[in-house]
Amino acid sequence: MIQDMEKILIDEQTLQAKVRQLAAQLSEEYAGKDPVFVGVLKGVVMFFGDFVKHFTEPCQIDFMWISSYSGTNSKHMEVKRDVSCDLKGRHVVILEDIFDTGNSLDFTYKHLLTKEPASLKICTLLDKPERRNPNVTLQPDYVGFVVPNEFVVGYGLDFNEHYRNLPYVGVLKSEVYSK
Ligand code: IMP
Ligand code: MG
Repeated sequence: MIQDMEKILIDEQTLQAKVRQLAAQLSEEYAGKDPVFVGVLKGVVMFFGDFVKHFTEPCQIDFMWISSYSGTNSKHMEVKRDVSCDLKGRHVVILEDIFDTGNSLDFTYKHLLTKEPASLKICTLLDKPERRNPNVTLQPDYVGFVVPNEFVVGYGLDFNEHYRNLPYVGVLKSEVYSK
């Protein structure tokens, strides 16, 4: 464990077992459907790679990059990089690192719906339901782990763009956040 880390919340072995389990479940449910897995960058990168490696059926992959910026009285989101596949009539699964307030997935979901997929579902590695924006009614269809209301890093998740490379999910020491 690196010295900035207060505790490991989900170790590498537990993460890998869960990702394999999700991939096996979706391999059954999406057999013969040639799904498109859409990853939302950058946080999903580790989960995405491990997930598709264990998805045993034909599929395609694509990526989106969204960013949020603060306006005068609300937060806005925009698509920085859109998918390149034509999603019309396709079975699409959004892969995400974490479903927190739900704002970014709500935005992403609505954006992808305009492309008229045959179906659209959400698979998130982590779910932090305590932080949900009450205006977001969208729910993830597949969840790896429910996490407590703590800021987590590792396995793709960052704090100031660092710690994404860690193979586990953990909580940093409080002095790191206040640096
Ligand atoms: P949202 O609040 O559900 O819109 O989450 C937006 C994005 O914030 C997620 O996709 C993550 O990249 C990031 N995020 C939310 N919670 C955490 C956390 O605990 N650690 C690191 N990143 C987070
Ligand atoms: Mg982030």
